[in-house]
Amino acid sequence: MNQILAKNRLAPNVVEFVLDAPKTVRNARPGQFVIVRVDEEGERVPFTVCDMDKSAGTLTLLIQTVGYTTMKLAELAVGDYVHDVVGPLGEPTDLDGYSDVCMVGGGIGTAVIYPQAKHLREIGKPADVIVGARDKSLIMYEDRFRAAARNLYLTTDNGSYVRQGFVTDVLKERLDAGERYDVVFAVGPMPMMRAVCNLTAAYRVKTIVSMNAMMVDGTGMCGCCRVKVGGETKYACIDGPEFDGHLIDWEDSMNRSRVYRETEQEHICRLTGKKER
Ligand code: FES
Repeated sequence: MNQILAKNRLAPNVVEFVLDAPKTVRNARPGQFVIVRVDEEGERVPFTVCDMDKSAGTLTLLIQTVGYTTMKLAELAVGDYVHDVVGPLGEPTDLDGYSDVCMVGGGIGTAVIYPQAKHLREIGKPADVIVGARDKSLIMYEDRFRAAARNLYLTTDNGSYVRQGFVTDVLKERLDAGERYDVVFAVGPMPMMRAVCNLTAAYRVKTIVSMNAMMVDGTGMCGCCRVKVGGETKYACIDGPEFDGHLIDWEDSMNRSRVYRETEQEHICRLTGKKER
């Protein structure tokens, strides 16, 4: 059992939890994830490590209420417990070999790139960070990124904050201005990551994406998190979650992400009492 030590609502459908998880964070590194069960019967849901404090033994996760289980999780309060947290899982981000990094975050993916941005600042190679969201209310961790990034670029789809446009518009401007990044890390919704990869392929910039695939066991046994990478089947939980974005079969991954959408909708309707559409 892991106790919730702090809870902050960052956006209408995004909650930040700080959990007591000393054993989990002891060996955790940026890019890794954990699997959380809200209760004994609960679905196993993966969450990327958004921040950690190894001396305090705390783990920070962002919960976006997109389904039945995340809605249940988001209802928990400070002092409540989640049933278990398994991790750290997956391969950590390999950041140390690069000297000029651009990190691109979309929506909740923004917070997921924070530990990497923080690490790069700590080793004296701060990254350019591009953060995009639908509107101002969904821009997260702005102050933390200002402290961690070399340059922070913000953009909103509807222009409600800083400038109107997509993360790819900003990235293209940086590349056209002559930035020569060693690597671009992109985390966010699949269409956004695919758009970043299409852009960087044209500029021949290596691009790593974090695949938020569905997961069950998180140990490479169930096959649920399959991702086609360069014509091979990989498992996001043990081979990833990060992969070369130029080798991902995006069509296949997007189709897989839609498989349980109807079942999920039924569960949400049951939880909220709303009628199914
Ligand atoms: Fe089961 Fe990855 S979650 S193989």
